[in-house]
Amino acid sequence: MSSLMLFSPFSIRGVTLKNRVVVPPMHQYSAVKGFPTDWHLMNAGKFAAGGAGLVVVESTKVERRGCGTVGDLGIWDDAFIEPLKRLVKFIHEQGAVAGIQLGHSGRKARANRPWEGDGPLQRRPNVEDWDAWTPVAPSAIAHSEKWHVPRALERHEVKDLVQAWGRGARRAHEAGFEVLELHGAHGYLVHEFLSERSNQRTDEYGGSEANRMRFLIEIAEAVRTHWPERKPLFVRLSVEDNAGWGPEQSVRLAKILKTKGVDVIDCSSGGITDQAPILGREIKYSYQVPLSEYVRRHADIMTMAVGLIIHGDQAEDILRESQADLIAVGREILNNPNWPMDAALKLGAEGPFRNVPPQFGWWLGTRARRGFGTQPSTYQVGLQVGLEETRKVL
Ligand SMILES: Cc1cc2nc3c(=O)[nH]c(=O)nc-3n(C[C@H](O)[C@H](O)[C@H](O)COP(=O)(O)O)c2cc1C
Repeated sequence: MSSLMLFSPFSIRGVTLKNRVVVPPMHQYSAVKGFPTDWHLMNAGKFAAGGAGLVVVESTKVERRGCGTVGDLGIWDDAFIEPLKRLVKFIHEQGAVAGIQLGHSGRKARANRPWEGDGPLQRRPNVEDWDAWTPVAPSAIAHSEKWHVPRALERHEVKDLVQAWGRGARRAHEAGFEVLELHGAHGYLVHEFLSERSNQRTDEYGGSEANRMRFLIEIAEAVRTHWPERKPLFVRLSVEDNAGWGPEQSVRLAKILKTKGVDVIDCSSGGITDQAPILGREIKYSYQVPLSEYVRRHADIMTMAVGLIIHGDQAEDILRESQADLIAVGREILNNPNWPMDAALKLGAEGPFRNVPPQFGWWLGTRARRGFGTQPSTYQVGLQVGLEETRKVL
């Protein structure tokens, strides 16, 4: 067992992660009619092979209307189970645990892929179900001027949607995922219900804070009836959204969610406006970690920290300071899919290559035992030793 918290196994319910490094959900915008492609296999596979304990597949939509872009993954039909199984199997074969995030884009549905322009999609002939894909939301309020005004959901549609999340959880379980995360952040449908800014309903899903929380709480209940007791359930929240929803509300919500079988709050921020989620300050390393620390302390629930966590020692410090239970590394793992292996090496973890598949771990371990590649700074020394050895031979 490693003395480093980051590389110690971590158990939640019946699932044990080999370490506390998590790949958070990251859209690939590469699905075809909601179905995963080889891209998804390669993408999740390389993170799993890089040594992360948990790889969470991107926000996967519980209904067609909830797709953000033409490339979103779907889970609104049983037909998605088999192709998702292939992803799960591959992640598990690399020694990581497979998780999936369930989501619904709400009023931010039917949008461009980020690199094709920020904002709503213009009507296109190749989108056959354009009208059926009309964005829906708690109230008919656009995200901002450039976005379409969504259609307000009827009360019975809200009830149906709660069940759609439950069915999504059942399919995720049947596909073999071991961890499920509900996307309640970033200005998408669940967050739109939580926020007074986007939710002006007059039924039991709007108005008071308790009413605005109702949608997510009912979703958690519906999900737990399908998602087995032994499997962990996470919820991602924008703990601070800079528009009326903040850490105190998040703590109150987290306490209720805990009683509904939610194990971990994944602490993010922003998204209900186009303002950057910067909590009034500049974005810097670990900028969301104080939110995780706050929720963890005041709601007495496990948390995952995310947001500009880039270095291994930074991640280890967050755990040692009791600011989070899990560490999600997003863009930095896009930069370096072998981040967990690299961080283990730099932190001096015992057997840094044991956490990765032998196809490359064995070779790197063998090389390390000969004194190479264990520390970046040994290059000069190694070079010197090598030269001396060569001279002796000569
Ligand atoms: C390409 C990309 C796609 C993302 N997709 C999702 C997503 O599907 N669901 C979600 O909750 N967050 C999503 N995020 C946010 C990340 O999970 C993470 O919270 C964010 O990138 C901040 O962490 P980082 O600084 O380590 O990248 C995405 C981020 C990126 C860069």
